[in-house]
Amino acid sequence: MSTTEQRVAVVTGAARGIGAATAVRLAAEGRAVAVIDLDEAACKDTVAQITAAGGKAIAVGCDVADEAQVEAAVTRIAAELGAPTILVNNAGVLRDNLLFKMSATDWDTVMNVHLRGAFLMSRACQAHMVDAGFGRIVNLSSSSALGNRGQVNYAAAKAGMQGFTKTLAKELGKFGITANSVAPGFIVTEMTKSTAERVGMGFEDFQAAAATQIPVQRVGRPEDIANAIAFFTGDAAGFVSGQVMYVAGGPLN
Ligand SMILES: NC(=O)c1ccc[n+]([C@@H]2O[C@H](COP(=O)([O-])OP(=O)(O)OC[C@H]3O[C@@H](n4cnc5c(N)ncnc54)[C@H](O)[C@@H]3O)[C@@H](O)[C@H]2O)c1
Repeated sequence: MSTTEQRVAVVTGAARGIGAATAVRLAAEGRAVAVIDLDEAACKDTVAQITAAGGKAIAVGCDVADEAQVEAAVTRIAAELGAPTILVNNAGVLRDNLLFKMSATDWDTVMNVHLRGAFLMSRACQAHMVDAGFGRIVNLSSSSALGNRGQVNYAAAKAGMQGFTKTLAKELGKFGITANSVAPGFIVTEMTKSTAERVGMGFEDFQAAAATQIPVQRVGRPEDIANAIAFFTGDAAGFVSGQVMYVAGGPLN
């Protein structure tokens, strides 16, 4: 890569929440960013925020669990922005329920978006990274990977993301590619808002209750996670690989 060439970052689930904050942050670091989400039109706010700040971004509609859509999306990104050498597997969904009430469909949906999605996106982008002799992959795990009542599907998927990450690190290291995982605690997004609704609490009360359990006594913001992702995706982090960083306002048991 010449010194003037921009690295291309792909962020999935970037229409809102942690993904949107990450896309904006990586653009501020000088990356050209492909903003992926299910609905291309829903990505336009994130793209507009980046371009208004002088950055470069495109919106890409893609279901990360769909093999053909992923292949088409990565081909399009490579053609329009250049070879994607930074990938943030952030797209996610919740389908919470206690084990005895959980449907097989809800199990499959969570596995497909998180694990199959990260697998398909990583496989599609790694060819470009190998060619470039450089790559950065960051996979979103969660504090729920340690076990969380009502989330047997999500906890398994997020623990799976950690094993997936460590294996990518071992397989791809020799090509100049690192893989790391960021495991957020409570972050204020539509996802945690939906959890508050499910348990019948107002979102403000839900956040206040969560904050009392967090050593730094506040809940997290999407930017807290974007900061950690920016570190892992930076050129300077080339000797950090296969790690899981919990970003949760304190240690977890
Ligand atoms: N918010 C938290 O407290 C928290 C904590 C730990 C981990 N996480 C993880 O961080 C990531 C982002 O979470 P968030 O809180 O910003 O969630 P969010 O629900 O606000 O955003 C998730 C985005 O992913 C998109 N998405 C869902 N399925 C998709 C698919 N198949 N293909 C493409 N895009 C898809 C959604 O449309 C949405 O825009 C997720 O992986 C989540 O599991 C969040």
